[in-house]
Amino acid sequence: MPDPVAVNSMFARTARRYDLTNRLLSGGLDVWWRWRLVHAVQRGHPQAVLDLATGSGDVAFALARKLPPTTTILGMDFCQPMLDQALGKRAAHPRYARVDFRQGDGLALPLASGQFDAVTIAFGLRNMADRPQALREMRRVLRPRGRLYVLEFSQAYRWFRPLYLLYLRRVLPWIAGGVTGDRAAYEYLNASIESFPDRASLTGELHAAGFARVQATALALGIVALHEAHC
Ligand SMILES: C[S@@+](CC[C@H](N)C(=O)[O-])C[C@H]1O[C@@H](n2cnc3c(N)ncnc32)[C@H](O)[C@@H]1O
Repeated sequence: MPDPVAVNSMFARTARRYDLTNRLLSGGLDVWWRWRLVHAVQRGHPQAVLDLATGSGDVAFALARKLPPTTTILGMDFCQPMLDQALGKRAAHPRYARVDFRQGDGLALPLASGQFDAVTIAFGLRNMADRPQALREMRRVLRPRGRLYVLEFSQAYRWFRPLYLLYLRRVLPWIAGGVTGDRAAYEYLNASIESFPDRASLTGELHAAGFARVQATALALGIVALHEAHC
């Protein structure tokens, strides 16, 4: 599993160009993937939501656009330069003023137990140094009927895998290196994607962390998956 100090410093280095790189590397699909996540959260009518590994805040802001103004939204991340990007966007858009951001480590959340109806994590779980511990922490801060939504890279459908691996190994580091000037960071990205569990394995990990019912949905030929886990 990844080294947290290296992960933190990698995101700190790439924070300023994070959004642009995301759009380019996914061909804009990341916006649609986050939309699917937010749409699923909306169906649960939560009163309090934590967006963990919020990064530059795009999920938190998308939640703010869709959920009623009475719903509280907290974005948390352990990398201050990423949070600075989120704070910059919030300052530029008064409609996002209700989104709170705080620094915090997903492996030891600085939050009391049982206070959220929904926890979201988009493209963050893959970067956590101890995935079982991160999942247990997310379970801990959820209310008894709460739900966790994990949006993350997954394993592409078998027939599409060779082409996808070619993209991950050859094209992605090249584009990302050009945009960020930090090719090593994106070599880490493809390694972490290739080694991440498939839908069935992650479902097993969610059960092991104490979630009772898990529903997994493949998106974009299995490149990405949305897991909805009920306490
Ligand atoms: C790929 S970004 C995803 C950001 C955002 N959720 C999105 O959808 O664009 C991953 C984020 O996870 C954060 N992260 C990684 N490990 C973390 C940890 N242990 N605790 C909190 N945040 C963490 C990184 O700082 C980074 O901002």
